[in-house]
Amino acid sequence: MTDASPLKGLILSGGKGTRLRPITYTSAKQLVPVANTPVLFFGIRSMVEAGITEIGIIIAPETGGEIRDAVGDGSQFGAKVTFIEQDSPAGLAHAVLTAERFLGDSPFVMYLGDNLLQGGIKGLVDRFQRDDPSALILVTRVDDPQSFGIVEFGPDGSVNRLVEKPKEPKSDLALVGVYLFKAAIHDAARAIEPSPRGELEITDAIQHLVNTGQTVLSERVEGWWKDTGKLADMLEANRLVLDTLHRSIKGELVDSEVEGRVVVGEGAVLERCSVRGPAVIGEGARISDAYIGPYTAVGVGCTVDHAEVEYSILLDGSSVSHMDHRVEGSLIGRDAKVERGPRMPKAIRLLIGDSSHVRLP
Ligand code: TTP
Repeated sequence: MTDASPLKGLILSGGKGTRLRPITYTSAKQLVPVANTPVLFFGIRSMVEAGITEIGIIIAPETGGEIRDAVGDGSQFGAKVTFIEQDSPAGLAHAVLTAERFLGDSPFVMYLGDNLLQGGIKGLVDRFQRDDPSALILVTRVDDPQSFGIVEFGPDGSVNRLVEKPKEPKSDLALVGVYLFKAAIHDAARAIEPSPRGELEITDAIQHLVNTGQTVLSERVEGWWKDTGKLADMLEANRLVLDTLHRSIKGELVDSEVEGRVVVGEGAVLERCSVRGPAVIGEGARISDAYIGPYTAVGVGCTVDHAEVEYSILLDGSSVSHMDHRVEGSLIGRDAKVERGPRMPKAIRLLIGDSSHVRLP
């Protein structure tokens, strides 16, 4: 490629996270674990696998500290990480401008910190370097194009138009949260105006590249892609990643049956339990008289006692006990407690945070 400088990485880990409230009132959504690993770590790892080790991470003032603590200087991933604070979540193109000093003239891969891409990005980086476009975008077919940034193609297959959440979509190919850019994107981001929702949209900046005659190439995603911005997608991402687990039992099993691809962390104790994989049980968890069903991730130090949990994510330190009903399709926050009270009177007693969602049978 003509650009001599090596590719840098830019991971967007700021934002508001409104769709994942109440979890995001207290915590960054990019740190919500999928198969007990923060979503953000998958993005960092795929950059390092593609040979990108100089990585900038966009953080928000509210949740940045927690992300700094989790990622450190990046050496745990074999990367050198620079944190870049974005003063307000003013859009993906605004995040690019915020990172301009870090990025300099380098071409870069931009990765949304709450996205997961199964196949990694090595193939994309190779294509970007070979074909040398101003931008390489990723697309995938979706059932509900109204909810995505949609890419329309010309008769020759070239990128024509990018439309944010179109009411009458002309294509069902959605933009995936991984983009490769040359430094020209900075001028494009400067040239655009905020959208009706008040954000500097990356779709508008890419459209500006198209309109000014620069080469924008696209690639179809092979394998799955997940944006974990809302609960259903988070659970689905957890399922997809758990499906790739290898069995490993380090904790202690007492009168317990563990079937299939199950990971039991160090110091975890399972007594009189039945676990059906794929599932992961974090270090130091205490599981007794319980059933852990497929596609469940139980965090570090959790308790499950006289309860059944399936297709769910339990964050570190949370507990589920003495339940009459199986807990399913749930995301339980850090140190949260779910329990059945004494039998009578048959009332429920709740201490529920803002924007929580409780569905009782
Ligand atoms: P989104 O999920 O599109 O936005 P959001 O985080 O504000 O979430 P919600 O729609 O639920 O309110 O953002 C995609 C990723 O980019 C996510 O990891 C957050 C990050 N981001 C930034 O870093 N800066 C920004 O200005 C925006 C809008 C997002």
